[in-house]
Amino acid sequence: MRYLVLSLTILIILTGCQVATTSTSNQTTAIPTKTIPATATDQPNPSSTKTETILPTITATETSQWIWVEATQPSTVTPLPTMTPSSSTNDSLRNLADAHNLNIGVAVNNGLVNEAEYAELLGNEFNIITAENAMKFGIIHPQVDSYDFVAADEIVNFALAHHMQVRGHTLVWQKQMPKWLQYGDWTSEQVSEILYQHIQTVVGRYRGQVQVWDVVNEGITGQGILRNFWYKALGPEYIDLVFQWAHEADPDALLFYNDYSAETINKKSDKIHELLEGMLTRGIPVHGVGLQFHVDLGAEPRLTGVAENIKRLNDLGLQVHITELDVSLPDNPSEEDLFLQAETYRQILGVCLAADNCNTFIMWGMTDKYSWIPSTKPGSGAALIFDENYQPKPAYFALQEVLKTETP
Ligand code: XIL
Repeated sequence: MRYLVLSLTILIILTGCQVATTSTSNQTTAIPTKTIPATATDQPNPSSTKTETILPTITATETSQWIWVEATQPSTVTPLPTMTPSSSTNDSLRNLADAHNLNIGVAVNNGLVNEAEYAELLGNEFNIITAENAMKFGIIHPQVDSYDFVAADEIVNFALAHHMQVRGHTLVWQKQMPKWLQYGDWTSEQVSEILYQHIQTVVGRYRGQVQVWDVVNEGITGQGILRNFWYKALGPEYIDLVFQWAHEADPDALLFYNDYSAETINKKSDKIHELLEGMLTRGIPVHGVGLQFHVDLGAEPRLTGVAENIKRLNDLGLQVHITELDVSLPDNPSEEDLFLQAETYRQILGVCLAADNCNTFIMWGMTDKYSWIPSTKPGSGAALIFDENYQPKPAYFALQEVLKTETP
């Protein structure tokens, strides 16, 4: 039972939301009147008391099952290439990927596209970008009654100017949420209305400019159980609803479920498979699964399991995108570490190219100068394909070689 004053306060806030205009547009969208099915009341969330880590947990079994496609010994490492990236030549990753109809890209934070060196490399080497943070709920919808599209617009405009695609990341996630939402005393109906409004506004704004959305991000625990703020507020039906709402806002956008540690066959990927199979049966517009691929060197998911997982999603008619690949190395990595890292990049791209339903390969950043790894996982870093001085690492050349040698 809510106190009258509290209810009135919420009503006033929501009324404000109803007439809100965005910070960069005059569009006004009324709060929807959609209701959640009767069963969608607050439900216990089995994972709600656990502290969730962002980084994937790789088990010892997975580590030991890592299979090298080419068993090259580190001791036979040839000297590192001294070439410069072939940005303006036919051998840029972007040009090579185009021949494979592959989207190859990186996650980008908005401010960086104004840095000349960064922007030039980005535009030359890649044909797709993901918003690393700019489209997350807390950034794009910081107040109950206002949106801030400045950062997201910068990324989308950069992509448009450089003929790149954009992956929208992400509509529904339990992290980087605004305080007003996370700690507000909202009823299920209000959460539903807020989310509907959010999806219509954000997806609608970038209709035709963002080709793919990560609609739900990390919504399942390692044990294969639904979790998060939205699940607790709205019940399991929230997933069908948000995909339908995103489709309503942009019928041409591809809609993905995205998660970490679901690359190979395990409880989480089993649950994703089961969930999406059910959604397809119910006619829900869902088009694919994003496999994040945040991995530590030496603890990569088993490649045969990854291929099997991608294949079973293909059997459902679903696409797979590699969405957030990075390969963390220990601080001060050796040449051998860099070589092994290159092999990991090479093999993951190989698995994607070999699959009928994988046409997108995205890394979680372009240069080690700007990567989330060192601050998130102290003692690790150097996870990307360009070093801190924008010089290509062995991993860059490994990707280049795969794209050059594999038959398109
Ligand atoms: C990370 C960003 O890279 C960081 O800058 C931010 O501080 C936290 O989020 N899985 C995801 C991404 O889906 O959104 C996360 O991005 C990394 C893990």
